Amino acid sequence: METKIIDGALISTQIKDELKEQVLVLQDQGIYPGLAVVLVGENSASKVYVGNKKKACEHVGIKSFSYELPEETSEESLLELIETLNADENVHGILVQLPLPRHMDEQKVIATIAPYKDVDGFHVANTGALLVGAPGFVSCTPAGIMELLKRYDVALTGKKCVVVGRSNIVGKPISLLLLRENATVTMCHSKTKNLQEEIKQADVLVVAVGVAKMVTGDMLKEGCVVIDVGMNRDENGKLCGDVDFASCEGIASLMTPVPRGVGPMTIAMLMHNCVQAAMRKEK
Ligand code: GUN
Repeated sequence: METKIIDGALISTQIKDELKEQVLVLQDQGIYPGLAVVLVGENSASKVYVGNKKKACEHVGIKSFSYELPEETSEESLLELIETLNADENVHGILVQLPLPRHMDEQKVIATIAPYKDVDGFHVANTGALLVGAPGFVSCTPAGIMELLKRYDVALTGKKCVVVGRSNIVGKPISLLLLRENATVTMCHSKTKNLQEEIKQADVLVVAVGVAKMVTGDMLKEGCVVIDVGMNRDENGKLCGDVDFASCEGIASLMTPVPRGVGPMTIAMLMHNCVQAAMRKEK
């Protein structure tokens, strides 16, 4: 079987171009979308992610306000900064890059962000809204995966979807989004028995575990769709996903690569959420 490769980089550029048009319309109305990006500490991966997010803001026409705080910043002063940003009318979205230094309580920090500025979709008001199907911000990686499935015409009703990984950022929300589209969803994790049997059933497989090349071609059902959320380094230091791309080619019908798959979509959906936040009428 020929495997079609999903071009996440191309779709993310298309989305950002669409958003650029929407930003121009907002600017005509005197609304200048703004995103505050908060980075605490020296995590080198986080610095790269934050840099890419700021670049995407430039592409779309969103003003980014950058806050780079030292590792030893107190939780109290971070909470104060968030309160200031909550009250700032020029800031429509607030993003606090995770992970935070160990002396900070991540849930407490996220809970301080005003839900209508929580463009990451991490606040319980937004995760809860997702659970019950109410409006709210959906976290960006799962939203990006759904957008890819939509733009590649992957039908989900009645399909068997297997999600490997149960994180708050990816595994749990993507499971809910697939369920919302009438898929039959199985959530797998490190304690799942017979993981290989579960994976073999999947019409659509989403892998978000952070283990390089954990899923190999022999585990897949012929013709399945594979979404790889992993971002790892292989034994040669080369970027790779949680799925062994080479052995899955020829077995999957449709598959995301790493890089240029899910990664760029996360940022495109962040931009989407920022534009949505700026469109919000009531203050
Ligand atoms: N760390 C890893 N992924 C993310 C993300 O999507 N948003 C934030 N804020 N931090 C992250």
